Amino acid sequence: MSHPADPLALYPAHVAAMSHRYAQAAARGGFDALVIGSGILRYHFQDDQAYPYVADPCFRQWAPLLKHPGAAIVLEAGRQPILVLLQPEDYWHQPPDLPPEVIAARFDLRIIRNPADITHHLPRPALRTAVLGMPEQWDGLLPAAPRNPHAVVAGLHYARAVKTPWEIACIRAAAVIATPGHQAALAAFRAGAGEFDILAAFLGGCRQTEPELPYGAIVALNEHAATLHYQHRDRTAPRPHDLHSLLIDAGCSSCGYACDITRSYAFRDDEFAGMIADMDRLQQALCAAVRPGLPFAELHRQAHLGLGDLLARWDLVRMEPAAMVTAGVTAIFLPHGLGHLLGLQVHDVGGHMADESGTALQPPADFPRLRFLRPLEPGQVVTIEPGVYFIGSLLARLRAGPASGAVNWDRVERLRKFGGIRIEDDVLVTDSGAENLTRPLLGH
Ligand code: GLY
Ligand code: MN
Ligand code: MN
Repeated sequence: MSHPADPLALYPAHVAAMSHRYAQAAARGGFDALVIGSGILRYHFQDDQAYPYVADPCFRQWAPLLKHPGAAIVLEAGRQPILVLLQPEDYWHQPPDLPPEVIAARFDLRIIRNPADITHHLPRPALRTAVLGMPEQWDGLLPAAPRNPHAVVAGLHYARAVKTPWEIACIRAAAVIATPGHQAALAAFRAGAGEFDILAAFLGGCRQTEPELPYGAIVALNEHAATLHYQHRDRTAPRPHDLHSLLIDAGCSSCGYACDITRSYAFRDDEFAGMIADMDRLQQALCAAVRPGLPFAELHRQAHLGLGDLLARWDLVRMEPAAMVTAGVTAIFLPHGLGHLLGLQVHDVGGHMADESGTALQPPADFPRLRFLRPLEPGQVVTIEPGVYFIGSLLARLRAGPASGAVNWDRVERLRKFGGIRIEDDVLVTDSGAENLTRPLLGH
């Protein structure tokens, strides 16, 4: 697939595809018109300070306008989509910019100076209208219009799994932005930095602020890597003697789309470095196994068998890999899914849906909590993120259970200081297989 020098060249066709998709979704719900809000600023309790603004996903899907609270897109059958932008007169804050021509040209653009003026641009009362997005934006407006009706939202969420070329270009661009961040973070770790400074290196490398990231970056040294979504930033400067490992799970955004990348590193060339190399081989084999038609749960099962093999080879568990999976031993060391859909949100929606009416897919009995159950299809972007972790509470469960005798507890205890390993790439399902969007950029 060729990658255009300017992804915006793909934007007009994307808007045409969205016009068709959203019109169908409206018709399925019995609506003549849709109003898609960008969301509004929300404030801390009894305070004049706002939370970081994040544009609502359906709005972002239409327009890469990320700093436009109070905006909306109005869709009516047979009319050009209307884009209403709020550009208040404000000398406390910088008002949002007008969009570039390539975006503005797709819409009937209307600029308002006061939030209340949006009423002049909403569908006529005679039309059956539904509202999508944060309901608070519509308090006191369009009282008869249902907010986020299931019949409309389910179809949009189902369709969102398969990306348009514009959406794929945005995810590629997010990965390009994240790459120097990961490189700078690795250099900081090698130089002996602590979590706070590794995060600062990541942000400096990718030149995004924390609120611009699609999810809170996870920067976990040593045993902190055993907390899957470790959220702190330890300020202390570690002594080199106390540094063992880094797990960094950090992505960037581009035009409202996310990438989601994890790397794990050993501080020394020790046995943990060898374990990371083994996990990396397993992760790359799983990425290479991605192909259309494969149910994602099947790939998840392959990941557990591969992990069972590693646990046996590392002399951590003395059981056959298949028996480890059946007995729930691998789930102690890998208690999360192999991956998820990626796009407008880091954990993108629709992973449990069988069709556009939102019929729920049932998870397999052996993996009841998987968040992505659909068969792989060309155009989906998924993460592949196997791992192995030494999590105190889960290990205590294993120790109290029937498989305890098969575990080499001395070795498990020796490895706990490393926390764990996760290796995560973003993979595009193609017509014949898969393309790893992130690994060629990072080079490792
Ligand atoms: N960054 C969260 C995840 O990998 O799912
Ligand atoms: Mn992920
Ligand atoms: Mn991640």
